Amino acid sequence: MRPLIAGNWKMNGLGGSLAEIASIGRWIANNRPAADILVCPPFTLIARAAAVAPDHLRIGGQDCHAEPSGAFTGDVSAEMLNDAGAVAVIIGHSERRHFHGETDEIVAAKARAAWRAGLLAIVCVGEKEDQHDSGQARNVVRAQIEASLPQGANPANTALAYEPVWAIGSGRTPSADEIVSMHGSIRAQLEERLGAGGALLRILYGGSVKPANAPTVLSQANVGGVLVGGASLRAEEFAGIIRAAADASSHDSRFAV
Ligand code: PGA
Repeated sequence: MRPLIAGNWKMNGLGGSLAEIASIGRWIANNRPAADILVCPPFTLIARAAAVAPDHLRIGGQDCHAEPSGAFTGDVSAEMLNDAGAVAVIIGHSERRHFHGETDEIVAAKARAAWRAGLLAIVCVGEKEDQHDSGQARNVVRAQIEASLPQGANPANTALAYEPVWAIGSGRTPSADEIVSMHGSIRAQLEERLGAGGALLRILYGGSVKPANAPTVLSQANVGGVLVGGASLRAEEFAGIIRAAADASSHDSRFAV
């Protein structure tokens, strides 16, 4: 599988930011990196972003409701994202879990909704700072995966994003050894739960990924891509991360599939 480089714009971006999407699209068209590239802007920009993005730049949503339609004021379904031109959706981001009280059960229902609508579900997990500091990270992440990743997940319909909450937007990242250890433990769990598909399902790292640290992050074992917040907002910075992914994959047989 090619690495997946996904940008999460969060609640940033008005119409003018479509220029950044067009610009990253042009860069990808010129450089043809060996990576799958996705940008997830706010709902209001999805249809317009899908219209300006070239084929090799995919557009995704940042959340969806579990139901396909109904009396859920303010919500957007996975089917609506698909209708607007999205091919993927981020599910269970720590900001959704924290600010919107999303439980593992809600996250699992949303992942199933994404599959129902034909979208790639990017399911997020990650420990908080106190859990990290008290040595509970592995157990916390294990329990989150157990409860929020439904059976039926496979490399074509799901990517799992490991995002330590304390690394998001903080400029701090785990050491390369910590990433290798956590991603290795997630891989073992995925193989245990999903069999052969678990060996190939992409495990993304997220949390303060920048052009400067992307080469290190992306060359670690079992890192199948990155989920990028702040550094995905500007085409030039995002391109720096994509370039690192293409370099990492060019001398790594894991990505030769
Ligand atoms: P960041 O955000 O890259 O700005 O740390 C990552 C995320 O929240 O997905």
